[in-house]
Amino acid sequence: MEPFKIKMVEPLPMLSREQRAAALRSADYNLFRLGADQVTIDLFTDSGTGAMSAAQWAALMVGDESYAGARSFFRFERVVGELTGHPHILPTHQGRAAERILFSCLLRPGQVSVSNTHFDTTRANVELIGGRALDLPCRAAAELDGKEPFKGNLDVEELESLLARGVDVGCVVMTVTNNAGGGQPVSMANLEAVRRVCDRHAVPFFLDAARFAENAYLITQREPGYESRAPRQVAEEMFALADGCVASLKKDAIANIGGLITLRSAELAARCRELLIATEGFPTYGGLAGRDLEALAQGLLEVTDPAYLRHRADTATWFADELESAGFPCVRPAGCHAVYVDARRVLPHVPARRFPAHALACELYLEGGVRGFEVGTLSFGRVLEDGREEEAPHELLRLALPRRVYTRSHLEHVVRSAAAVSARAGSISGYRITEAPRSLRHFTAKLVPA
Ligand code: F0G
Repeated sequence: MEPFKIKMVEPLPMLSREQRAAALRSADYNLFRLGADQVTIDLFTDSGTGAMSAAQWAALMVGDESYAGARSFFRFERVVGELTGHPHILPTHQGRAAERILFSCLLRPGQVSVSNTHFDTTRANVELIGGRALDLPCRAAAELDGKEPFKGNLDVEELESLLARGVDVGCVVMTVTNNAGGGQPVSMANLEAVRRVCDRHAVPFFLDAARFAENAYLITQREPGYESRAPRQVAEEMFALADGCVASLKKDAIANIGGLITLRSAELAARCRELLIATEGFPTYGGLAGRDLEALAQGLLEVTDPAYLRHRADTATWFADELESAGFPCVRPAGCHAVYVDARRVLPHVPARRFPAHALACELYLEGGVRGFEVGTLSFGRVLEDGREEEAPHELLRLALPRRVYTRSHLEHVVRSAAAVSARAGSISGYRITEAPRSLRHFTAKLVPA
């Protein structure tokens, strides 16, 4: 059961099927173009969509809004410092701002950033400064229903051979958990192995720590030797291995906005602070309000609660099991922040160039007002010079789980909607783009049923 009770409620928009069909048509069949009032259950993202606790709302009231030296910053700094052990702590307004500042100060043009998988904004920020973002996911990551417990791991042999060949690697960034790779965790053994390789070659090692607590919890559940460890303790060990981190605090700080850079190097911190002042704000607020810093500090203390994390992980596993029984096979084992439906297996007759995961997302919305996120050829493919469509490696529909927002009966509604969609899967057709920009097309593309 949920280890919390509900004190404040928000009504859900309830639309008829006809209203949903009209909404989808007027959104040009792009779920980014829907208004939130047209969505009943919004599983688009777990980012910035969590419900704050009573203690977080209370903390907002003591926020200190001083421009410099705000009391709220010092509380935030203390909480983050105790968690990470990193001495230099820079708040930013969200994760991608932290990425931009760190990579601008760390990488030279032409250098390579290696990751288990760069999240898309992380990749974009490496490329913006003329770097190259290279993903080295472990082999097990490609097997969607494989039983391997740590499919978020990095291929250490590949990293070693890259460095042995003399490739100019400017940093290694481990994304915990690996969002783009299906929300899969990274093991402590893998983090330690990456650390050793980085030490041998004097390469700085960072975490993209957006979902650090969920990764730490999955280590306690899946990695031999960590069964009796508290998630908080494991999280501290993960941070202890790194030279610093970037993080979107819109996830595991359970607040609606915020980001973070932590560093061990005073010299790198000084450079980042300069850029922070020029583009985000003074280092004691970094683009956030004092009240945000209070809510974030409180959220970072709450998120490693074992009862909360157990409920979250169990919910994701239960949800994946139920969806699978309803005819929506999911990536296994489930992580924490989302389940990923394998659209190719639900709609085998829809080719990648007709966006099967997008088609599934549209049908789930039509059926139950549920909004999911396409992770497939619409988002990650592109049109080649000869007009052909480059396909993404997988066609997934991500159903993200906002923190502390939806109860099990809300998710039961999603499962019933999935069963109805799956019962008529054979009659579902794909989509065709009628208008799209050259890059990041999924945000604004217009489509029609093919
Ligand atoms: N890193 C990871 C692993 C992320 O998942 C995200 C955002 C970011 C960085 C960027 O952080 O949004 O605060 O600027 N992920 C969201 C998602 C958008 O829906 O998965 P941000």
